[in-house]
Amino acid sequence: MYDNNPTIPKVIDESKQGEVLMMDTLKGSTKSFYIESYGCQMNFSDSEIVASILAKEGYGPTRNVQESDLILINTCSIREKAEQTVRKRLTEFNKIKQQKPETLIGVLGCMAERLKAKFLEEEKLVDLVVGPDAYRDIPNLIAQADEGVKGINVLLSREETYADIAPLRLQSNGVSAFISIMRGCDNMCSFCVVPFTRGRERSRDPFTIVSEARDLFDKGFKEVTLLGQNVDSYKWQNPETEEWVNFAQLLEMVALVDPNLRVRFSTSHPKDITDDVLYMIRDYKNICKYIHLPVQSGNSRILKLMNRTYDREWYIAKVDRIYEIVPDCAISSDMISGFCSETEEEHKDTLSIMKHAKYSMSYMFFYSERPGTLAARKYEDDIPEEIKKRRLQEIVDLQMEIAHEHNKQDIGKTFEVLIEGDSKRSDKDFKGRNSQNKVVIFPKIEGLKVGDYTNVQINSVTRATLLGEIV
Ligand code: SAH
Ligand code: SF4
Ligand code: F3S
Repeated sequence: MYDNNPTIPKVIDESKQGEVLMMDTLKGSTKSFYIESYGCQMNFSDSEIVASILAKEGYGPTRNVQESDLILINTCSIREKAEQTVRKRLTEFNKIKQQKPETLIGVLGCMAERLKAKFLEEEKLVDLVVGPDAYRDIPNLIAQADEGVKGINVLLSREETYADIAPLRLQSNGVSAFISIMRGCDNMCSFCVVPFTRGRERSRDPFTIVSEARDLFDKGFKEVTLLGQNVDSYKWQNPETEEWVNFAQLLEMVALVDPNLRVRFSTSHPKDITDDVLYMIRDYKNICKYIHLPVQSGNSRILKLMNRTYDREWYIAKVDRIYEIVPDCAISSDMISGFCSETEEEHKDTLSIMKHAKYSMSYMFFYSERPGTLAARKYEDDIPEEIKKRRLQEIVDLQMEIAHEHNKQDIGKTFEVLIEGDSKRSDKDFKGRNSQNKVVIFPKIEGLKVGDYTNVQINSVTRATLLGEIV
């Protein structure tokens, strides 16, 4: 959910600059906005909703922060480092504002929600603070700010899903797009700030999801990723028939849009992924054989402290079940090293569960205490940073090995690959992805273009990519 190259196991570096979302400047716009996004894919997806709301107000997107009338930063609170990065960026934006006082600066997203009015006190030059459920109010807040009144709306909602807003696809390759299917999280994992910043879980009307997918397909897109913090707990009740739609059913509805539209989804909480979902993945060729199933820790005592609601054995059984029903499925994960009171032995349980699960890739972090979470209130953050980092390095090293091994198993196999663009290294090669979400690089041939499917036989691999030839 966090990065574009999903096959490279790595620690997410929040210090790197957030991505600037862009598209061609809208025709007819009279003012411009600049938006920079941090954090998970949900946040990037939200930025596209914000862009759509702004477009209706006559604002067009720009890449040039110096010339924009409105600077927005869509923030993440997941780890402390993510917040530090945002603060640094705000100082830089404030310098621009000092030279051009009429520029408005707005803080959106999870940090806005977590810090609320504190932002206006601490960061004197911020004009708007808008939480994830209040984006419809942005035009009012801008109008107020233009009058010199700083605006804040951080109300969380039990209903808002932005179902009727067509996102403005800002940074699209024209092939894959994200569709937000639910918001919030009810899972209270003890380390996690998301339930506080994104509020209660709610699911979006499936018919609007399907029509968004169809619309994307009609525009030439070939892949959609259904997004939510915990997609497997998706449930929506039809107000007319009172019938429920669950995630397995939603997957099928989207898969039926067209056999040439690939369907992906993220993230799956191990406790909620059902056999019905696995059968859908097995039965529909266009539902990708790839599940992001974050384990967090391989030790049952730590999992209990984390409030993940499953233990080691339960997770292992779930992984085994996935490989039983969908043998060619790739599974990826998130891991946290050095959670409160974690012993060396318990850390080793994380290493051993990784080997059992054979993750094709993982996102790996060391524990960062977040104010207000259950862990911050109840447990001491007692593992010294150097130990957290050393354990993390062991996790990263092992993941690289496992990923390389995973990729080696693919040598000789032929995969259907969706072409996404030129390879980074050479414009003589295409880059695409197979169903298992692995990046595949292969020489171009006449007549094939971005957005086409092609069969590629794998000849060699690295830790991060598969290399092959069209067959
Ligand atoms: N909803 C997703 C996770 C969203 S947050 C899920 O439950 O799988 C993405 C990842 O960030 C988490 O899976 C976790 O590994 C990591 N994370 C969350 N809070 C963290 C913290 N306080 N310190 C370090 N990593 C954290
Ligand atoms: Fe955070 Fe847990 Fe919800 Fe994921 S499932 S967003 S880790 S509380
Ligand atoms: Fe996403 Fe960060 Fe918020 S991971 S939900 S943007 S805290």
